[in-house]
Amino acid sequence: LEKLLRTKDLKGLRVLMTAGPTMEAIDPVRYISNHSSGKMGYAIARAAEYRGAEVCLVTGPVNLPIPHGVEAVHVQAAREMLHAMESRMDGADIIIKVAAVADFYVKNASDHKIKKTYGLPVIELEKNPDILATLGQRKNQQFLVGFAAETRDLSAYSKDKIAKKNLDMIVGNLVSGPDSAFGSDQNTVTFFYSDGSEEALESMPKEKVADKLLDAIVSRMHSRRN
Ligand code: CTP
Ligand code: CA
Repeated sequence: LEKLLRTKDLKGLRVLMTAGPTMEAIDPVRYISNHSSGKMGYAIARAAEYRGAEVCLVTGPVNLPIPHGVEAVHVQAAREMLHAMESRMDGADIIIKVAAVADFYVKNASDHKIKKTYGLPVIELEKNPDILATLGQRKNQQFLVGFAAETRDLSAYSKDKIAKKNLDMIVGNLVSGPDSAFGSDQNTVTFFYSDGSEEALESMPKEKVADKLLDAIVSRMHSRRN
């Protein structure tokens, strides 16, 4: 019954989100990226659509079908993801940044394939823009959610990111555990809120984490309004 009642509890809300890795070109055939599978983000997009939201998913390259009814925007580099998010943020009620953004891009990316006969290439890295922090600076009424994957000090780092990026909430993930997040169908997360409170969830399928996250967002948005 509880599930039936909340079925369309996101009706009328616009959810803008990101998922997957970003891909930073070294040359036309090579890139720097990470192990993000996109499963967590796609599960959230699917759940939000199911619960009645209008969902726009800005996605890096992953091997997953776009969930039914979800608008997809395909990007590769973090700089493209930034533009896709900045141009859409004004219309959003909820922004969820699940994507594993590459922290660096290749400043001297080559227009042509680098040939090995020219000796060892020097790859110059430059810091990518912090998309989430940019959205945090520019947000008005949007409920802004980040993700954090850490190998230690989850609570301290997560709370630090809430403050630095001006978030309403962050989903913290300890990636050193037995069912660590990357590629897995299970996830063990803790929700941290901007008021300093936190809620640790047990290990559960990513679909269930998605619903718990949307429950938490709905409840926080209600209490913010009242
Ligand atoms: N993020 C972002 N843009 C970046 C880097 C991260 O939007 N250039 C977002 C991620 O999508 C995630 C959150 O910030 O929602 C936290 O990402 P994380 O990699 O844990 O934090 P960083 O700020 O990059 O710090 P570090 O990797 O050094 O821990
Ligand atoms: Ca990072």
